[in-house]
Amino acid sequence: MKYVIGNLKMNLLTPAERERYFESFAKEIKGKKFMDTKVVLCPPAIHMESFVGKLSSKTVQIGAQNVFWEERGSYTGEISASMVKNFGGDFLIVGHSERRKYFSESVEQMKAKASLAIKAGLSMVYCVGESAQERSSGKTHKIIKQQLEDVLGEVPNSKIENIIVAYEPIWAVGSDEIPSSDDVLGAKIIIKKQLVEMFGNGALERIKILYGGSVNSKTVKQICIDPEMDGVLVGRESLIPYEFLKISEIIDDKNR
Ligand code: PGA
Repeated sequence: MKYVIGNLKMNLLTPAERERYFESFAKEIKGKKFMDTKVVLCPPAIHMESFVGKLSSKTVQIGAQNVFWEERGSYTGEISASMVKNFGGDFLIVGHSERRKYFSESVEQMKAKASLAIKAGLSMVYCVGESAQERSSGKTHKIIKQQLEDVLGEVPNSKIENIIVAYEPIWAVGSDEIPSSDDVLGAKIIIKKQLVEMFGNGALERIKILYGGSVNSKTVKQICIDPEMDGVLVGRESLIPYEFLKISEIIDDKNR
């Protein structure tokens, strides 16, 4: 199974804009069949329930971009992993570089979110990746290994199917820079080695590894298909249903 996961970030600002998105998505997905690909949309929390109502289907599932690190209570403004699950969500993004950067998310916070997500029965998309500076000083390997150890270290082996790792080099997210196929393959090998170290050989069949960062229908072959990733995390292009579903079709097509 492959995954194409759209992170809509803080977009769709009006009901009218959301309605247009639904219409366009419904039009574009009509008649499309995916043999081996799950399409997931992670809208802003305020839209989650209506996305579930309007777009979720056998092919499309819905997720959240973030949750709080406690399950319930007096935490003004927050939502929890069990709310996401109970309102029809199935996925949660954890450790996105924008949250690490703008909210200074700590390892402890990410670990708590991961554990609540798994407890709630969500699939957790855990983002790892190096900055431009870490890359140029040869630290990519060290950073990815550390990020995996930090947050996945306490996930019980029986639950690792709930983990999806997304390699998202920070310098490629929201920019138009993309890594070479070899760079992505290199990162994938680092991730695989680390997962085997943490969870044993069986881990590689059970944990999917995606790529994310400036993917569009033209770059997807080079950065996701050539290095044989299990799918992709898409930011900007997920706002354009035509492009997003084109990426999904390319990922799904076995004869590509
Ligand atoms: P982008 O974002 O596709 O706009 O680079 C990717 C992400 O943030 O996951």
